[in-house]
Amino acid sequence: MSPYTSEAVRIDVDTGSRSSAIWIGDGITEQLSALLDAHGVGKRRFIVSSPLIWRLHGKQFQHLADGAEPILIPDGERYKNLQSISRIYESLIRAGADRGSAIVAVGGGVIGDTAGFAAATFLRGIALAHVPTTLLAQVDSSIGGKVGVNHALGKNMIGAFHQPVVVAIDPLLLATLPRREFRSGLYEVVKYGMIASRGLFDRVAQDLKKIFARDPDVLLPAIVESCRIKAKVVSADERESGLRRILNFGHTVGHALESVTKYRRYRHGEAIALGMLAAADLGVARGALAERERQALAQLIAQLGPLPTVFDLSTDEILEAIRRDKKVVNGRLHFVLAIEIGATMTVDDVTEEELRAVLKRLGLKH
Ligand SMILES: NC(=O)c1ccc[n+]([C@@H]2O[C@H](COP(=O)([O-])OP(=O)(O)OC[C@H]3O[C@@H](n4cnc5c(N)ncnc54)[C@H](O)[C@@H]3O)[C@@H](O)[C@H]2O)c1
Ligand SMILES: [Zn+2]
Repeated sequence: MSPYTSEAVRIDVDTGSRSSAIWIGDGITEQLSALLDAHGVGKRRFIVSSPLIWRLHGKQFQHLADGAEPILIPDGERYKNLQSISRIYESLIRAGADRGSAIVAVGGGVIGDTAGFAAATFLRGIALAHVPTTLLAQVDSSIGGKVGVNHALGKNMIGAFHQPVVVAIDPLLLATLPRREFRSGLYEVVKYGMIASRGLFDRVAQDLKKIFARDPDVLLPAIVESCRIKAKVVSADERESGLRRILNFGHTVGHALESVTKYRRYRHGEAIALGMLAAADLGVARGALAERERQALAQLIAQLGPLPTVFDLSTDEILEAIRRDKKVVNGRLHFVLAIEIGATMTVDDVTEEELRAVLKRLGLKH
């Protein structure tokens, strides 16, 4: 199939059960309609977005839904819940959506996860396309088929695997993204460098200024490489029985930090940045990672900008949150360690004492 713009890149996620085509290119959304047609995405398309994103970018997507109003979910993590799912169902039913209909999610990770879960469950599953509008969604949440919502008692507690048929990634949509949100996504790019590509890590470090300026010449390749890494990992292990765990580098401590601060203090990527520092420190303490590699990571994270504080958090509450986390399987904590920039190993024998020491060095109180 021919690309839709001269520089568009196609990456496939093939999980055996279903495959997704990821299209990446500056301005790719201009060809979205043709792209969805070519991949057979739904005769009737329902757009799910948020009022803010729709105000900023809606015009270019209006035609996709045959003039039908988009389904708008209020902005913010607290609306990633079953009530929003219910509202989406209601709109779909009222509009007479059927099995041949499709949902097109236009937004960040919150919209993508929510709309995706509605698509996974409505009539036992209808087609889904993602148009991610945050850097985090472009390099991470729109790829891999994890969809879901939060429960009042826990984040991402309700979910499914539902591979999108198409993901259309247009870096030009990031022009309106606030800097802090942009940085949040960049930490995940750094994570891909840490787990799979020293080249990517070095290029981010080298071209940081241009990346922050959202210069397409450097931003696009960084997004493409991140997507390639995630697509490859997910294709090999859709359900996270092994390899997919490496994507959790930095996420053990990161998720715990987010959870004890009730998802209010850190943007996701910021918590992951702190989590990566902790994981690198643990690697050095175990003799698995060279100190100069840890320093390179710490330096890059420092260059990306200031992170919210950890000083008032206690190691006890973080350890408690880690114990509750989904990464504990049969009582064993699976922890992803970097062994060098670009390579990891997973261990399951990390002790509480080791974690406590790492957390203290990260700056937590007692
Ligand atoms: N499914 C997965 O595999 C996966 C992976 C990682 C994260 N997630 C989920 O993703 C969510 C976080 O996603 P996020 O970081 O994209 O946050 P988000 O969706 O809340 O978006 C962040 C903010 O940016 C705004 N925004 C979005 N696009 C914009 C644009 N182009 N211009 C201006 N503003 C824009 C949003 O309205 C919002 O206020 C979390 O719920 C997390 O659990 C899912
Ligand atoms: Zn993440």
